[in-house]
Amino acid sequence: MQDLWQLQEEALSRFASLDSAHALEEAKARYLGKSGAITERLKALGAMPPEARKQAGALINQAKSAIEGALEQRRTELARIQQERELAATALDVTLPGRTSGQGGLHPVTRTLERIESIFHGMGFTVAEGPEIESDAYNFSALNIPSDHPARAMHDTFYLAPGYVLRTHTSPVQVRYLETHALPVRIIAPGRVFRCDSDVTHTPMFHQVEGLWVAEEGLSLAVLKGLLSEFMRRFFERDELATRFRPSFFPFTEPSAEMDIGCVICGGAGCRVCSHTGWLEVLGCGMVQPKVLAPLGIDTERYTGLAFGLGVERLAMIRHGVDDLRTFYENDLRFLHRFA
Ligand code: DAH
Repeated sequence: MQDLWQLQEEALSRFASLDSAHALEEAKARYLGKSGAITERLKALGAMPPEARKQAGALINQAKSAIEGALEQRRTELARIQQERELAATALDVTLPGRTSGQGGLHPVTRTLERIESIFHGMGFTVAEGPEIESDAYNFSALNIPSDHPARAMHDTFYLAPGYVLRTHTSPVQVRYLETHALPVRIIAPGRVFRCDSDVTHTPMFHQVEGLWVAEEGLSLAVLKGLLSEFMRRFFERDELATRFRPSFFPFTEPSAEMDIGCVICGGAGCRVCSHTGWLEVLGCGMVQPKVLAPLGIDTERYTGLAFGLGVERLAMIRHGVDDLRTFYENDLRFLHRFA
């Protein structure tokens, strides 16, 4: 019965080498199927003499049950391997760090606004607000900018319904506030303003902070210069910050000036940011033009006003060394994260 033993060995090693359940069932047919090698041998028993049949039968049945046992064992193994494969494919690595929702932060422009407000608050100013959709009258006429005035063309205005604009500056809040409050007033008016303009230093929407201080006595150009110089020193945290005021023109102030600070990038030596002048222009200011105050019923012999208007993004750019204003509004988290 040498060949029976070989057959058994062959079956066992074949089963062990197969790694799909389908192939295993096919191999099973080869030995245990209707015309499988074992089945054929069992059938052949009938032709044998009774003594030999008994002996051969016992051996064949032994081989059969060895083959059946091996088959069953491989089935179980393959089922386990298959299950492991499925588990591995859908595995969760519970040791990976979870995905958090991420921590938000204030936008750099908001932070700059808060910083400006807090410094002026410390100097006795309160915060006032005005509408972003503004009438032509408040945005221009009440500020001594008549319809035919070339200053209107300078503002690149977004016109809405006739007589209405998106405010081009925060200066109209000066007039609105004076109309509704008793003197003296000492306010800043932060907010969005709009101009049809876009390049590295302009976006169609940006922020300004207007300042207005009207009082009976004590206000002068010297006070204005001292106030704004002190503000800039606090804002940039430089006690020695140089400032200068250049004569300028705004219809709603007389005299008017533009304020420069010594370049905080190069310290005044001259660099790309200050166009090699050593100075950075930071705001417009002046003594409030009596033509703005008088129509509001304010006695311009008694009361004097000082005013200023600064660009928030511009100050944020200088403080943080940002060279393209538009990056504030591109919502690129890599940029915004640096301020959080
Ligand atoms: N409103 C001016 C502008 O947007 C800035 C300005 C200049 C405001 C002088 C003032 C001022 O209050 O006194 O260009």
